[in-house]
Amino acid sequence: MTYRECMRRAQKLMKEADLSENAAMLLMMELANKEAHDLYMDYENEMDEALAQEFEEKLQILLTGMPLQHILGYEYFYGYRYIVNEDVLIPRPETEELVANVLAAYDEHFADQKVTCCDIGTGSGAIAITLKKEEDNLQMFASDISEDAIAVAKQNAANNEADVTFLIGDMCEPFIENKIQVDILISNPPYIPNDEVMEHSVKDFEPHVALFGGDDGLKFYRIIFERSQLFLKEKSMLAFEIGYNQKEALMKEAQRYFPNAFIEVLKDMNGKDRMLFIYNNLKHE
Ligand SMILES: C[S@@+](CC[C@H](N)C(=O)[O-])C[C@H]1O[C@@H](n2cnc3c(N)ncnc32)[C@H](O)[C@@H]1O
Repeated sequence: MTYRECMRRAQKLMKEADLSENAAMLLMMELANKEAHDLYMDYENEMDEALAQEFEEKLQILLTGMPLQHILGYEYFYGYRYIVNEDVLIPRPETEELVANVLAAYDEHFADQKVTCCDIGTGSGAIAITLKKEEDNLQMFASDISEDAIAVAKQNAANNEADVTFLIGDMCEPFIENKIQVDILISNPPYIPNDEVMEHSVKDFEPHVALFGGDDGLKFYRIIFERSQLFLKEKSMLAFEIGYNQKEALMKEAQRYFPNAFIEVLKDMNGKDRMLFIYNNLKHE
């Protein structure tokens, strides 16, 4: 069978199952170890039998709706490779933008200073590990309530050679208990309202503890706004990923807990309101 024949069939099956045809292409690129242009160059060539068999086995799993990243066992985030499995949320491109904006805000407010930073609800560790790799002046702590997620995050820190201290516990509590004072707090907490209808590949394959944030989706932001007052340094910054439709409600909540802070919501590359930044006693131009 040629690559063309194999891909034509795979993409047809994916389409019939109402799944992304592109996932089949990405699967082939990974298994054949080819960039898209190399794959197209080889399109009329016969496939190696072992490759055809492996592709067929993995395609059948893909057709169940399992995310490609779970089949491969990893996802790339900010150019770094992260192990992912059913215990952690697959890190999303929107979250890369949060990381980029935190790095820019670090340069603006803390440039060249050694600062303490925490990532609450770290999951795969993608935010904390990437920040540490990109800015070594950050003393990085990361926490999660899920012991299984922390085990994955530790593995990711080791694989990426990043010095991050991991803590297990409920939201802000490990930082309060361990008297860790932070300059920068980051979180991408679960923010999906409990009753929201979800895609099959998300609802059935990603951990629910990573997804749902109470009746209005805002439960964990309120907890962090309230409890963080006990371990934030006087001059500090908080940065959150938020749901695209949560801007107004969250601005109001943030103003209630941080009445003197400068608060802003940033848009992602699709023009959606996706990041909330709170500058606590920091001058913001
Ligand atoms: C939306 S996921 C974000 C994962 C990762 N930071 C990312 O951006 O890809 C939310 C994370 O919060 C964790 N979490 C849920 N409830 C928590 C709690 N009460 N305390 C600490 N972490 C919690 C979940 O286990 C999950 O890893």
